[in-house]
Amino acid sequence: MTQSFASKVALVTGGNSGLGRAIALAFAEQGAKVVIAARRAADSEETVAMIRDGGGEAIFVQTDVAQTADVQAMVATCIREYGQLDIAVNNAGIEGTPMVPTADYEETVWRQVIDINLTGVFLCMKYEIPEMLSRGQGCIVNMSSVAGLAGGRIGAAYYASKHGVIGVTKAAAIEYADQGIRVNAVCPAIIETPMVERAFDGDEEMRDRFKATHPVGRFGKPEEVASATLWLCSDGAAFTTGHAMAVDGGRLI
Ligand SMILES: NC(=O)c1ccc[n+]([C@@H]2O[C@H](COP(=O)([O-])OP(=O)(O)OC[C@H]3O[C@@H](n4cnc5c(N)ncnc54)[C@H](O)[C@@H]3O)[C@@H](O)[C@H]2O)c1
Repeated sequence: MTQSFASKVALVTGGNSGLGRAIALAFAEQGAKVVIAARRAADSEETVAMIRDGGGEAIFVQTDVAQTADVQAMVATCIREYGQLDIAVNNAGIEGTPMVPTADYEETVWRQVIDINLTGVFLCMKYEIPEMLSRGQGCIVNMSSVAGLAGGRIGAAYYASKHGVIGVTKAAAIEYADQGIRVNAVCPAIIETPMVERAFDGDEEMRDRFKATHPVGRFGKPEEVASATLWLCSDGAAFTTGHAMAVDGGRLI
């Protein structure tokens, strides 16, 4: 299914944990040079070491995607170290806690979630796209969620931000479709990652209840989101842009 990404440079925000790490490792396995852009140094250096141990190439750039200067430095470092940017996976995100109904939702949490999940994706695209335009090619995958395609309880900012990610994905897809840049979104249901572990907080009854909402009868694996992401960045997806792809074990059916 996947092609080799040898000679490509792939940047993954939040590439030090969960989905981002699985995506970074998958690109490296297929030969891409990988830029891990994330806040936490220890997890990021560990991911870089995993890639290098496997014979791949990777660097870490400490980045807060909600900070313009950090995002500019992220792209500049990628270009300085590897000379090009072919693929950008704008994956960094937070769930926003406490998760409570809208009337109880804290304004500070709202602003933080929108800042990271939505403005962060916008800022990344704003500085990634010019580098891609300079070479007339590029693929962007933005991490949305089934929470970007349907509503749900106790996460107003998360639902809003993930719907917004699909909006900004479609806008950019149209703007740059005739200039060699494809922009798509991935919309996972519940995938076993540290974010989900935090949300369940050991509540097995809640875990089983949520599992039952996935017709395949289980949660997803980070590698299953990685393979969808790699396909969207492959030549096989050359005619696919502006798409919000559910990777959800049938949850939205
Ligand atoms: N796990 C799921 O079930 C699921 C489902 C749908 C969508 N998602 C989305 O997938 C993405 C990855 O989530 P995950 O489950 O791997 O969670 P995770 O907590 O394991 O990873 C999130 C990553 O984003 C990074 N991050 C957070 N804020 C950042 C910031 N301001 N700047 C830079 N990096 C930042 C974290 O450090 C971490 O590396 C998120 O956007 C999340 O909303 C996850």
